[in-house]
Amino acid sequence: MPELANIHAAFYNRFGKHPRLVVQAPGRVNLIGEHTDYNEGFVLPVALDRATFVAARARTDRIVQTYSVDLEAEDRFALDWIERSSDQPWSNYIRGVAKSFMARDLPLLGADLLIMSDLPMGAGLASSAALAVAVAYALQSLNNVNLLGEELALLAQGAEQSFVGVQCGIMDQFVAALGHANHALLLDCRDLSYHPIPIPPDVRIVVCDSGVRHQLVDSDYNERRSACQAALRLLRGPLPQIAALRDVSMAQLEQHAPLLPRTILQRARHVISELERTQAAAAALEHADLAGFGALMNASHASLRDDYAVSVPELDALVAHAQSLDGCYGSRLTGGGFGGSTVSLVRLGAVERFTEELIARYHTQFQRTAHVLVCVPAEGVGRIAIY
Ligand code: GLA
Repeated sequence: MPELANIHAAFYNRFGKHPRLVVQAPGRVNLIGEHTDYNEGFVLPVALDRATFVAARARTDRIVQTYSVDLEAEDRFALDWIERSSDQPWSNYIRGVAKSFMARDLPLLGADLLIMSDLPMGAGLASSAALAVAVAYALQSLNNVNLLGEELALLAQGAEQSFVGVQCGIMDQFVAALGHANHALLLDCRDLSYHPIPIPPDVRIVVCDSGVRHQLVDSDYNERRSACQAALRLLRGPLPQIAALRDVSMAQLEQHAPLLPRTILQRARHVISELERTQAAAAALEHADLAGFGALMNASHASLRDDYAVSVPELDALVAHAQSLDGCYGSRLTGGGFGGSTVSLVRLGAVERFTEELIARYHTQFQRTAHVLVCVPAEGVGRIAIY
């Protein structure tokens, strides 16, 4: 985590005033339940102990000035004229959040915002959701608004959907808002009820960033979402009562498989099997059955690779190496896919060796450096300083 004093000093240097508060919102790693959130299914993410920090101060006018320390980029917009920025795309998360405040008729003054992060960007660890949730929390604190964690998450999700153009689900924003230290959250994305499940103390969640960044992530993501909608439409013929793929069982899918084009069938099969795996994995974790949990992670990866087609050779290789290493219960790609990171569950005493081997083997195979984070699940968004 960057030193609080450095965040404060960076704000002062930039804006010539002291910040009023500093907020942090964590990234996330999803243990299982991938591409299920927008099918009204279950997910099992944890909030990472890496976060986006926002130092903030209200202004008396209706201007928002933002500065990203990591990107060395600034942006400025008027609250009464918020448009999408094409030259500062990172700022659209902030613009979108401000616009969502206005759309909900929430009080909103202008603000100076300084952003700093120790979350790698584009690594599949939901850095954009962390940014949107942190900004939403900072703006609500400055304007004495008191949104529930769930409302904050929905507001940040709406900002990303309408302002950035990714038809993302609710998982990332929800766990950034409501993550629990040392727990994973079993979240039901249909009604947003959730249940924290403890992570046993003798394992570590090891995230490995492949360094691969795919160009067309947003359009590929939206395309997968459309495929699920197409499957839903076709299955509604024989099953008119279904509201989402969540409502379809594997037996029903098999029975009606001839109605679906091959690719659409594969996409639906991933979602429906992943829903079953996620519930089984949550039960395994409740019983601290790490071997059972790990086997479901491995099956999830195979399904994402073969049926949902969101993996890439580098992720497949990282997962295969991880699965063969001592002390690893299971490994899979995490997040949207097309690059980004893998997540592995590793016995505490084996983590060091595991990490070294994984980095070495990956380097030998691809001449690329993998970046590893060993994580302990953290709390969701919160204020870390007030001045
Ligand atoms: C991205 C989205 C999430 C979720 C995952 C895939 O991270 O933002 O809503 O759909 O992909 O599980």
